[in-house]
Amino acid sequence: MPIQINPLSPSMGAEIIGADFSKPVSDEDFTAILQAFYDYQIIAIRDQHLSPADQIAFSRRFGALEDQLNARYILPEQPEILVLSNDVKPDGSPVGLIDAGDFWHTDSSHRPLPSMATILYSLKNPNEGGDTGFANMYAAWEVLPADMKQLLEGRRAVQAVSKFKNKRVAASERRPDAQEKYTEQLAIPDALHPAVRTHPVTGRKALYVSQRFTIGLEGMTEEEADPVLDFLFEHQTRPEFVYYHRWHDNDLVMWDNRCVIHRATGGYTYPDVRLMHRTVIAGDTPF
Ligand code: SIN
Repeated sequence: MPIQINPLSPSMGAEIIGADFSKPVSDEDFTAILQAFYDYQIIAIRDQHLSPADQIAFSRRFGALEDQLNARYILPEQPEILVLSNDVKPDGSPVGLIDAGDFWHTDSSHRPLPSMATILYSLKNPNEGGDTGFANMYAAWEVLPADMKQLLEGRRAVQAVSKFKNKRVAASERRPDAQEKYTEQLAIPDALHPAVRTHPVTGRKALYVSQRFTIGLEGMTEEEADPVLDFLFEHQTRPEFVYYHRWHDNDLVMWDNRCVIHRATGGYTYPDVRLMHRTVIAGDTPF
């Protein structure tokens, strides 16, 4: 049976039915899936039954994996996988990272080499909440007013990893090591990346700022940059650019961090458990 590709929303996203990544996938199917990833920016491959090793093998077909920064929440035998969860172990300690992605962002934009794509595998979904929001940064760029495009073209944005450097975000009270982690991260140098980047495969331009990581614009004072950033953060999540993914158990979702921002929306409470395994494909220098 050939795989089926069905669009999920007018803004972006497609579901893929009929693939099984616990077994070797033909080059023909892989090529179709890769093309869907470029065409729809997010793909949700339904009904996958994957061991951690299967997920790593699937992820590696797209490129080298990025190392995970949160060593505390990785799988001990498979450090390529970060566990996201609100579940707790019998001793009360967390099973996974509880507050991942609680503000709009694109993964690793605070690193010198930001990631290409993120893959999230849903092992368990809560009965309520847990959706992930995605916003299309090609579309956000395309309709920006001409004077805003002119201001951003050729300008780099300042990306900071510690939430303590960013007045627009707050550390989650649900994460036990938040204070320690964000304090430690104050020592990590900020990254500078183009505020609008060109996708290396599609050639399309995408807005490349986000509320979670972008704290300034190169060559502008804070007073000058603030109204611009406030405008962009509002603009980039306009409803026509956004798709909210309602997870099915065993969804394997992959999104393109070069042209999509995303956010975990929360809305679930233990003992209603959410459990995800996350891998990240390394990217290259944005231009
Ligand atoms: C993330 O930002 O990588 C996590 C998104 C989610 O858990 O919904």
